[in-house]
Amino acid sequence: MEGPIQPLFFSLNTGAQIPAVGLGTWQADPGVVADAIIEAVKLGYRHIDCARIYRNEKEIGQALRKLFDDGTVKRDDLFITSKIWCSDLAPEDVPGALQSSLDDLQLDYLDLYLIHWPCRVKRGSSINGENALALDLAATWRAMEGLFDVGKARAIGVSNFSSKKLEDLLTVVRVPPAVNQVECHPTWQQPKLHALCQARKVHLSGYSPLGSPGTGWMKGSVLDDPTVRMVAEKVGKSSAQVALRWGLQFGHSVLPKTTNASRLKENLDVFSWSIPDDLLTRFDNIKQERLLRAEFLVSKNGAFKSVEEFWDGEI
Ligand code: A2P
Repeated sequence: MEGPIQPLFFSLNTGAQIPAVGLGTWQADPGVVADAIIEAVKLGYRHIDCARIYRNEKEIGQALRKLFDDGTVKRDDLFITSKIWCSDLAPEDVPGALQSSLDDLQLDYLDLYLIHWPCRVKRGSSINGENALALDLAATWRAMEGLFDVGKARAIGVSNFSSKKLEDLLTVVRVPPAVNQVECHPTWQQPKLHALCQARKVHLSGYSPLGSPGTGWMKGSVLDDPTVRMVAEKVGKSSAQVALRWGLQFGHSVLPKTTNASRLKENLDVFSWSIPDDLLTRFDNIKQERLLRAEFLVSKNGAFKSVEEFWDGEI
């Protein structure tokens, strides 16, 4: 008999627990995302990773309301993340941005609120390299700390921060970031950032853990990687499951996105088996390549003149 699969958790520096597998919602179409959230929570997902810029928080909020109203799950049993967009990062705009996400998600608090990118554009401006401004880390973070202080964000963190930017942030914080959510998968493993996060007690969460195969412009092939495929064959699992399980064994939570019912189930079936050590070491030899290079934030007239500068050489 099969019931909901119980997810494992990682501990955050706040004392809270973050589910090891969360559901990504980037590019989850508003028309299908609500059904996917309902199906996911019924299957046992407890972390939903949202963002203002994904433009689907309203539909996700409707799905959450339904799940609470029909008693499928209680608010406290879920872990909900959202991210503040680059045009809301003037310190005085930060509380209103959180409130907009809370309103759409129909929630009183978030479990985690992240700075989506270490980059700001003026309020109302579109995001591109010419408009990109460097963040005033100290002032922006103080505004984020204010949200933590009043309990509207039970943890605060960052996304897409290089090792250098994370270290810079750590020099100005009162409340340290709980999470750095970054691209992480077998073909972009980020061992240096991983080690820093571990040393400084910042949990690393991996987005695009399958290499976002549905995104035409991200030219990667995690699922077709020969090592991933070889390990999948040996352990009798799919390439997607092996990519996710590698992440858990490397020590970070993973955020696979799907709105497909059978893939939702497949991606959560990563707890009752593991990759043996002799196969795990084979991942060390995989050619590394960042997929989401953030070229859209780079311009010779903006704050970041090159992709290398944006990622502080981690490219
Ligand atoms: P779909 O939403 O049609 O299931 P990532 O999480 O790395 O961003 O990858 C998301 C992409 O991977 C989506 O295109 C999604 O398609 C696809 N995907 C999700 N789960 C699986 C799986 N188990 N096997 C193959 N592709 C998957």
